[in-house]
Amino acid sequence: MAKPVKITETVLRDAHQSLLATRMRIEQMLPMLESLDKIGYNALEAWGGATYDSCLRFLNEDPWERLDTLKLHLKTPIQMLLRGQNLLGYNHYSDDVVRAFVNKASEHGVGVFRIFDALNDVTNLRTAIDAALKAKEKPHVQGCLVYTISEFHSNQTFVDLAIELEKMGVHSICIKDMSGLLKPYVAEDLVKKLKAAVSVPIELHTHYTSGFGSMTYLKAVEAGVDILDCALSPLANDTSQPCTETMIATLEGTERDTGLDRHALDPIAKHFLGVKKEIMKEFNLPGYFDVNPNVLDFQIPGGMLSNMVNQLKGMGAADKYQELLEEMPRVRADLGYPPLVTPSSQIVGTMATMNVIMQAQGKPRYTMVPNEVRDLARGKFGKTPAPVKPEVLKAMKITEEDIITDCAVEDAKAPTMADFRKELAEKKVDAKLASIKPQLDGVDPAIYEQVRETQLAKMMDELPEEDVLSYALFPQVAEEFFKKNGRF
Ligand code: CO
Repeated sequence: MAKPVKITETVLRDAHQSLLATRMRIEQMLPMLESLDKIGYNALEAWGGATYDSCLRFLNEDPWERLDTLKLHLKTPIQMLLRGQNLLGYNHYSDDVVRAFVNKASEHGVGVFRIFDALNDVTNLRTAIDAALKAKEKPHVQGCLVYTISEFHSNQTFVDLAIELEKMGVHSICIKDMSGLLKPYVAEDLVKKLKAAVSVPIELHTHYTSGFGSMTYLKAVEAGVDILDCALSPLANDTSQPCTETMIATLEGTERDTGLDRHALDPIAKHFLGVKKEIMKEFNLPGYFDVNPNVLDFQIPGGMLSNMVNQLKGMGAADKYQELLEEMPRVRADLGYPPLVTPSSQIVGTMATMNVIMQAQGKPRYTMVPNEVRDLARGKFGKTPAPVKPEVLKAMKITEEDIITDCAVEDAKAPTMADFRKELAEKKVDAKLASIKPQLDGVDPAIYEQVRETQLAKMMDELPEEDVLSYALFPQVAEEFFKKNGRF
C-alpha cells in the first residue's frame, strides 16, 4: 500500500537561519506564499528559533506582525520552533509567561508547535506542551528528541524519551538532529525502534553539516519515517536541510512517493535564489558552508563555530583555535554531556573559550566561570544527561546547598507576565515624563507622584500582550525596537 512521505518545508525559517544568519524579510517571502501554499506541504516552518530575535534586532520587523502576514496568505499549517521553558530566549521563564506566549502564538496562527529542551529534560517541556494542547485553536503539538552522541546516549535513550512524550499527549515526535550527527544506519535503527514503540507519526530533522543528510533521510524512509524536513534547493544542503526537490524526485514512483509536483517548485526556487543573492550582498554573508566531517568529533553546530572563532579573536587568542576544538568535548563531558543546541551550546562554548584563555595564561581550567555555566552545572536548567563531575563542581565552588534538584521550583520564582508588564509600563511612563521635564519643574513631588501613578495605571492597561512578551524575551532589543518605532 502506498504510504507517501510528507515534507515540511524550512525555507522560511531554518534554511535561512542556517545559511543566511536568519536575515530573510517578510517582503522577500510574500511573493511566493500563495505558491508555497499550493504545494501540499505537511507544514511550512516559518517562526521561532532565531527569527523572533532577528526580526527585532536586525530587520526592524515586529515578529507578531510577520506571523499575522504569513497566516493571512497560508492555509498550510505554520510551524514554529519553541525551546520549552526557555521559549525563544536564553533564560527559563515562569509557567505564566510560557502559557501566555503559547496562547498568543496559537491565536496569531501557529498551527504546529515543535517543542524541545536542550537537555531533553521533560520537566522543561511539560508546561509548553500542556499549554499548546489546551490552546483553543487546537494546534498540532510535536515533542522533540534532541539528538546527540555520548557514552550516556543510545537509541534506546531516545526511544524511552519518545514513550514519555507520547504519554504527555504530543501528536507527533521529531528527531531533532541539529548538528547533523545522525548516521544513516543509526537513523534506520532509531526510526524502526521508534515506530515499534510509539504510535504517533515520526518526523526527522537533520542538517547536512557533516554530509550525511540524504543518506540518513533515505534510510529513515526505508525504516518508515512519516515526515521529513527539507529545504528548497537555493537554501538546501551545507549546514541547512537536504534539498526538497531532490527528495521528491528520489521517492517518485516508489511506494513512499510524496505525491508532490517537483516542477511546481521551479518558479519558487528561482525566486528564493534571487532572495539569497540579495541577502548575501546586503549582509555580506558567504551563503554557503563547507561539509565538515569533524563535527562528528567536536559536535559543534555550524553557526557556533564561527561565533567561537570571533570570541577568540576578540580576546587576542585567534591562534588557540585547535585547543578550543579539543576543549569543547572535554567541557561537555565535565558538564554531563548536554546536547549542544541553543542555549546549552553557547554555555559550553563560552566555558571552553574561557578555559583555553586561562590555560594560555598558565592558570587552571575553570578559574573564571560565567554565571550561566554555574547555573547549568548546579541544575538550574534541568537535569544533565550524566552527573556533572564532582571535581568540576568543586573547581566552580558549587556546594551542596547550591544544587537544584527540581528546576521547576526555580522557574516558579521567575517573573510573571504582570511583573514584565509593570516593568515595561514604568520604563515607558518615566521616559515620557523625562521628555516633558522642563514643564514639571517646581511641581509638588506629591502631585508628580500622583500623575505618575495615573499614567502608569493607564499604560499597564494599554500595553499589548505581544509587546510585553517581546520585552520579556529580549528586554534591551525590544526596548530599542519600540523606540525606533514610536512605541516608547
Ligand atoms: Co535545525
